[in-house]
Amino acid sequence: MIALVGMPGGGKSTVGKQLARQIGVPFVDSDHEIEQRIGGSIRPFFERHGEDAFRDIETEVIAELIARAGECVLATGGGAVLRERNRELLHNGAIVLYLRSTPEDLFRRLRHDTTRPLLQVRDPLAKLRELHQQRDPLYRRCAHYVLESARPSVHALVNMALMQLELAGLLDPARVAATVGAEPL
Ligand code: S3P
Repeated sequence: MIALVGMPGGGKSTVGKQLARQIGVPFVDSDHEIEQRIGGSIRPFFERHGEDAFRDIETEVIAELIARAGECVLATGGGAVLRERNRELLHNGAIVLYLRSTPEDLFRRLRHDTTRPLLQVRDPLAKLRELHQQRDPLYRRCAHYVLESARPSVHALVNMALMQLELAGLLDPARVAATVGAEPL
């Protein structure tokens, strides 16, 4: 299993879907699995039952996915690394890639977002800076590799991920559909 961690808006789902397609394995989104379980979307659940209740379900879902999902690309929620248990589960059960972006880039992408409960505040950029500062060390601790690039395109990020996995000997190049590194970063 390859797991993607990082801040909301950093491209985990978009990159994850394309990476999975390139490698030829299923794509799984832990937020989507959580929504199936709670029978609705995350924001109202979060507002009604609080962050702790959400985090409890998140831990259960991550543990189950690690145990049963097999070969796949897993996109996690931005706060999945907050609990040590989740970091351990992910680090020991998957190859973890941290998609790292600056709070300013994330803000550009998430300015109009209404789905993320933590960002429904008066100053979302300040919130993103605070979350980034708090979480960056946790993402790093959980991840095996950090993928970082200034305002990267999805295509570039997917290629960076493929290249990193190949260099580490974790991916058979013959399995990869596209030419890695075809586009300069
Ligand atoms: C959260 C990020 C969301 C979702 C929930 C909490 C967070 O996932 O899990 O709203 O704490 O940053 P994305 O990173 O996919 O937005």
